[in-house]
Amino acid sequence: ELSPIDKAKFVAAKRAVEYVEDGMRVGMGTGSTAAWMVRCLGEMVREEGLNITAVPTSTRTAELARSVGIKVVSLDEAKWLDVTIDGADEYDGNLNLIKGGGGALLQEKIVATASDQMVVIADISKQVETLGAFPLPVEVIPFGWQTSKALIEETLIGLDVLGRTTSLRMNGDAAFLTDEGNYILDLHLHRIGNARQMSLVLNQIPGVVENGLFVDICDVVVIGYGDGKVEVRD
Ligand code: A5P
Repeated sequence: ELSPIDKAKFVAAKRAVEYVEDGMRVGMGTGSTAAWMVRCLGEMVREEGLNITAVPTSTRTAELARSVGIKVVSLDEAKWLDVTIDGADEYDGNLNLIKGGGGALLQEKIVATASDQMVVIADISKQVETLGAFPLPVEVIPFGWQTSKALIEETLIGLDVLGRTTSLRMNGDAAFLTDEGNYILDLHLHRIGNARQMSLVLNQIPGVVENGLFVDICDVVVIGYGDGKVEVRD
């Protein structure tokens, strides 16, 4: 028996895999919600003979996809994707997102952008009026990261936010490392007044590789509820 939160994630994933058709190239996101989608598609491959090729967005998702019988290729091999299904940390009424709570935002953004369609799966707790309660992840290269951190903090002064503290994401006593060997700075902004501007400005800063704002990338959000209800927003 699933807990209400797992049930919400599961029903959203189950509904979202309806976007996947035989022969498609599918981008696969990272996180606990996306893992339900990978397991659902694995079952369809094994039991219904569904033929798909997957491009995962992390080593974690690649391992899971292979373990459930899904054929995995690199993005360069796939070239272009029909659909990407991924989770999110927050989504707003314009279907803009914060992603990267799991640290995979860079591959996730590249893969989503290389897809005809991005479908986000989320439980209702991820819905917000304005993005920013969830700390915004920013991937920076390790070289001179403290300079990049200082530049980010200075840049935030001119922007419509409610908080400006930043913290280096840790993994025990060491800095958390992304799949690309980079660091993550979490920006505690509480409210992001202009997500598009924030995203553009952050990516101009030397050392910043990418940020977790997905603006005008997501096409559909499939929302799951603890009682098994599903809602589709597009
Ligand atoms: C991974 O880097 C993130 O973008 C995830 O998509 C996000 O953190 C959602 O994860 P959960 O589904 O586990 O909440």
